[in-house]
Amino acid sequence: HRTVALIVAAGSGSRAGGAVPKQYAIVAGKPLIAHAYHAFAAHPAVDEVVVVIADGAEALAEAALGLVRTVVGGATRRESVALGLAAIDADYVLVHDAARPFVPAGVIDRVLAALDGAEAAMPVLAVADTLVRDGAVVPRDGLSRVQTPQGFRVDALRAAHAGWPAGEEATDDAQMVRRLGGSVALVQGDAMLDKVTHPDDFAAAEARVTWETR
Ligand code: C5P
Repeated sequence: HRTVALIVAAGSGSRAGGAVPKQYAIVAGKPLIAHAYHAFAAHPAVDEVVVVIADGAEALAEAALGLVRTVVGGATRRESVALGLAAIDADYVLVHDAARPFVPAGVIDRVLAALDGAEAAMPVLAVADTLVRDGAVVPRDGLSRVQTPQGFRVDALRAAHAGWPAGEEATDDAQMVRRLGGSVALVQGDAMLDKVTHPDDFAAAEARVTWETR
């Protein structure tokens, strides 16, 4: 199988504050996006890594990653994924948020292995906290948090994007495949993959790395 990792990094990163978009801010000694990039590039099952960047971010991306393959994204995450998909040649694709810098190789292994028996695979973590909606407890049995990288047989993800209702948003690709009848396997995620969204998340991300390497 030819496997391409597609890292989506075309968001504004505005919720994280800061002078540069969060994907280019320094975390644990490197630009945020460089961590995920290098994790995929170093994985033996990944043949190519392609980065979807915002229009005008070419210089930022080159400063962070050197000369790598980039594609300009769109106004929503869904559009950014679709534009990336149109630019790659692959059997399997791993779609990953740049906002999740630390990608354990074991998660990549599990996602790819699950694609032998399903059209899509996503890492999930069981919810540990009590959850409420408007103050009322929601039973957490069977609830999980969904992470990336999500893996796909490329044809299935392309079909899901092509068949998606115009004007409707989707925050994740596996739900698109599932909605159109495709099979989605769940594999064990990893707390290292938690997303950097708000300003405080940078410190939490630094702490996770320190932990991992202590
Ligand atoms: O905003 P949020 O953190 O949910 O975005 C998830 C990922 O999708 C981020 O890595 C972000 O850069 C990417 N994205 C994108 N194109 C957009 C919006 C978000 O590639 N238009």
